[in-house]
Amino acid sequence: MKKKVLILSGGISKERLISLDTGLQVAKELKKNGYKVKISEPDNNLEKNIKNFKPNVIFNALHGQFGEDGYIQTILERFNIPYTHSGVIASAIAMDKEISKKIFIKNKIKTPKFFTYLYDINNLDLLKKIKNKFKFPVVVKPLNEGSSVNVYICNEKNIFRILNLIKQYKKVMIEEFIGGREIQVAIMGNNKLGAIELKPKRRFYDYKAKYNASAKTKHIIPVELPKKKLNEVLSTALKAHKIIGCKGVTRSDFKFYNEKFYLLEINTQPGMTKLSLVPEIAAFKGISFIKLIEWILKDASTKK
Ligand SMILES: Nc1ncnc2c1ncn2[C@@H]1O[C@H](COP(=O)(O)OP(=O)(O)O)[C@@H](O)[C@H]1O
Ligand SMILES: [Mg+2]
Repeated sequence: MKKKVLILSGGISKERLISLDTGLQVAKELKKNGYKVKISEPDNNLEKNIKNFKPNVIFNALHGQFGEDGYIQTILERFNIPYTHSGVIASAIAMDKEISKKIFIKNKIKTPKFFTYLYDINNLDLLKKIKNKFKFPVVVKPLNEGSSVNVYICNEKNIFRILNLIKQYKKVMIEEFIGGREIQVAIMGNNKLGAIELKPKRRFYDYKAKYNASAKTKHIIPVELPKKKLNEVLSTALKAHKIIGCKGVTRSDFKFYNEKFYLLEINTQPGMTKLSLVPEIAAFKGISFIKLIEWILKDASTKK
């Protein structure tokens, strides 16, 4: 008999709509293939939904805060039902760009230079600090969002306006801007699944470039890189996946500039929407959407 799958999607993060879309795509594909599916929000009804539906496995299609950062994983451990993707600790570490970048650096994985800003020094001192460490433009971003939400490329003129715009975070990252190419790598278990290059028509790979087909971001697969370079970026993604302790499928986001790869972040719950990259990389490798989902379900476990 085919398994019963409870899909967790929606949630309270700024990536709620993307998560609903990921959940819907996964649900459609599973239903088409004879699975019993129930979609649930990670809200107060979750426990009731689990008790009534009695799923064999939970597909975590949440993105961002509370879904990808260890919080929901802690709750899921309680039910003793296998759930997909990374566990509590790896999710928490990967979601925090400051902590994960420190781990990358310790393990000799190149990542853009950065510091965190706590809104605690005056503008003049901040300018001095930026100019001491790197130069403009810089990238300003939250430590624990996704989908490019509140990521800004800033120059000396607009940085204070931008910092003010996102001061609700209280702590943000100021990062060296890396030009060049945008390359993302999917890891599946302990295997290098493949890479894809994104060529946004917009200034960078922002929310619209990611999710609006009309933004016409070019997806290039296979990536045009010499074999050795391609293997270098695939190996770096696998190394990041392993040192953070990730499970299942992850997607690592890189910039490639001056023959060097810079790891921006590792995503423990990559999107599965129609424009999402992991399904596209998998398809290129001959792994259909349903095969990818079935692999993720099989890999699910508790106590990670
Ligand atoms: N240091 C950087 N240099 C150049 N572009 C960057 C940098 N950091 C982020 N970006 C751009 O912003 C996008 C989103 O940044 P990322 O760190 O991956 O955060 P998110 O978790 O929101 O995806 C990247 O894919 C890239 O296009
Ligand atoms: Mg990213």
